[in-house]
Amino acid sequence: MTLERFRWWHIAEVLPIEEDLFGAEKWSAAMFWNELATRRFYQIFSEQDQILGYAGLSVVDADESWVQNIAVRRDAQKRGVGRTLLEALLAEAAAQGSRRTLLEVAVDNEPAQRLYARYDFEPVGIRRGYYQPSNTDALVMMRSA
Ligand SMILES: CC(C)(COP(=O)(O)OP(=O)(O)OC[C@H]1O[C@@H](n2cnc3c(N)ncnc32)[C@H](O)[C@@H]1OP(=O)(O)O)[C@@H](O)C(=O)NCCC(=O)NCCS
Repeated sequence: MTLERFRWWHIAEVLPIEEDLFGAEKWSAAMFWNELATRRFYQIFSEQDQILGYAGLSVVDADESWVQNIAVRRDAQKRGVGRTLLEALLAEAAAQGSRRTLLEVAVDNEPAQRLYARYDFEPVGIRRGYYQPSNTDALVMMRSA
């Protein structure tokens, strides 16, 4: 198993995973290119040269970081990959001196909310209709550091 920096040549392998997990709300290649260009902290989790998951963090300022996304290939879920990726992001947030880390998650996404709750994220707000085209609300969650 390896955790490494998400580079542009990983995008092609990530797109079908994104399609499978998020359907109409998937990120496009252009969105990933943009994320990588802004030098955010993006990590790839792979095993035997296959990408099993990926996640990204944006350090907004000295105080605050945001989890941009976290995704684990369907057939690799519930094996600790999401947890490993989230721990890498939280370690980076701490290394950057963040006082708090925030994220948005769909209100009906129980597995993800459970993962975040395990790492002390707590609900702090709702963004109405944040996810389009489904018009699903996002729960904003936050934890210290
Ligand atoms: C959410 C997601 C990233 C979790 O990744 P994962 O590798 O399956 O999670 P892990 O195996 O590391 O599990 C960590 C914790 O998450 C929670 N969890 C994971 N899958 C779960 C499920 N199907 N049901 C309930 N809780 C679940 C549990 O609390 C689990 O801890 P436990 O095993 O000790 O009970 C993954 O399910 C995923 O990619 N989902 C689709 C994309 C997505 O929703 N991303 C989040 C967008 S905000």
